Amino acid sequence: MKMEEYPNVFVMDHPLIQHKLTFLRDVSTGTKNFRELVSEIAMLMCYEATRDLPLMNVETVTPMEKTTTQVIAGRKLAFVPILRAGLGMVDGMLSMVPSAKVGHIGLYRDHDTLKPVEYYNKLPQDIEERDVIVLDPMLATGGSAIDAITIVKRSHPKSIKFLCVIAAPEGLKALTEAHPDVQIYCAAVDRCLNENGYILPGLGDAGDRIFGTL
Ligand code: PRP
Ligand code: URA
Repeated sequence: MKMEEYPNVFVMDHPLIQHKLTFLRDVSTGTKNFRELVSEIAMLMCYEATRDLPLMNVETVTPMEKTTTQVIAGRKLAFVPILRAGLGMVDGMLSMVPSAKVGHIGLYRDHDTLKPVEYYNKLPQDIEERDVIVLDPMLATGGSAIDAITIVKRSHPKSIKFLCVIAAPEGLKALTEAHPDVQIYCAAVDRCLNENGYILPGLGDAGDRIFGTL
């Protein structure tokens, strides 16, 4: 589903994603299930975020006859999770596109300023030949996504998409203004941020829930 005010934002309202998101939000969901759900949602979101991959025709011999079928036309992908919570999405994405390379960007939000602080950055060497999907379950103020995408852009990939599970309206506005060329995919747009920059209703701290560091 497209959002009227943001033509680059796609909200994935597929019933399977919405069903899993309900359990992800639930405070009684433990670390093991939370991790599995993040991965499963990422897998389903990957399916939609790769819908525009170009195809090419190939000749295939079935047990019955020779025919013309389609394969992905050599498009190379790179997934770039924002540490830590983005790591939870990588396995689900790779289960759909096993040949993708994976870069990492380490950012954490300073608890007082809510501004992202960079602590790690390793991207695939051939990133110029790749379409990048940046991963983070949470888009809150948008600061982390904006900085991560700015870092990725310095390496000149072919294109960049941003894939998150829950977005706050504040983050969507900031991210679309900072990077109008980036397509954003999310499973839900929540109500607002609280005074500490947490998404309401949200799911709490995604990194802590994935890694059990609550
Ligand atoms: C969380 C989340 C995003 C960021 C979103 O990470 O995973 O990276 O906050 O907030 P923003 O849109 O306001 O920047 P956090 O900083 O808590 O780090 P962690 O993943 O290491 O726990
Ligand atoms: N980061 C999170 O993990 N959760 C929020 O609600 C906001 C930022």
